[in-house]
Amino acid sequence: MSIENPRESSGVTPLSIAVVLATGNRDKVRELQPMLKGISPLLKLFSLADLGLSPEIEESELTLEGNACLKASVVFSLVETRFTWLIVLSDDTGLEVEALDGAPGVRSARFAPVPDGSSPSYEDNVRHLMTLMTDALNRSARFRTVIAMKGRLPSPDGKGKEIDETVEGRIDGRITTTLRGAGGFGYDPVFMPSGLEKTFAEIGLEEKNRISHRALAVIKATERIQSLLDQSGIS
Ligand code: IMP
Repeated sequence: MSIENPRESSGVTPLSIAVVLATGNRDKVRELQPMLKGISPLLKLFSLADLGLSPEIEESELTLEGNACLKASVVFSLVETRFTWLIVLSDDTGLEVEALDGAPGVRSARFAPVPDGSSPSYEDNVRHLMTLMTDALNRSARFRTVIAMKGRLPSPDGKGKEIDETVEGRIDGRITTTLRGAGGFGYDPVFMPSGLEKTFAEIGLEEKNRISHRALAVIKATERIQSLLDQSGIS
């Protein structure tokens, strides 16, 4: 575990723990920052961009868990020599529709077939889903976000402890018969959470961020990090 120079150059002090988000998306980093700060001032958050990395990781696994763990593992191997203590967080999200045996699931971003093999747009994917669901009576569906956490934390015996686990957030609902609302992204205009008469595209970002699959997964991940730090005796 060599730490001197890289640790200094990354700005992480000996008692710091790097939290590396396996994403280039700075919005996700901005969103997480206050939640992690609340856990411990020892946590220092980095995006891949902050670390000068932009790895191409093919999401080749068959489950959300598999893809989240794959991304966390690849990024962990890229950054682990730069920090003594670190946790890599990686997420994968999918819409799981009962009438379609859980599809689009892990293929949510690339659900609609497109002739030239390029990536389908959100609109392409929603149109494809609605076509498949034309006659479906069972319209139950859920969004699920899995966050994989892979890392190395201090342990009371001084040897360090390997972390390799996942948490998940989910929200149940149903697929509407028509598109509703102009907000959100992806499948939001056709997903109505249970207990609400509005789609994700109609409720506004603030409410969505309180109840969504992603929000619930992030809360669980931060709670888990808190308890891991408590076990390490350093929070
Ligand atoms: P990702 O794993 O966060 O990249 O999500 C994969 C795909 O799931 C996205 O391309 C969207 O099509 C869909 N998706 C993820 N989260 C949401 C959401 O909150 N609303 C609607 N669609 C979503």
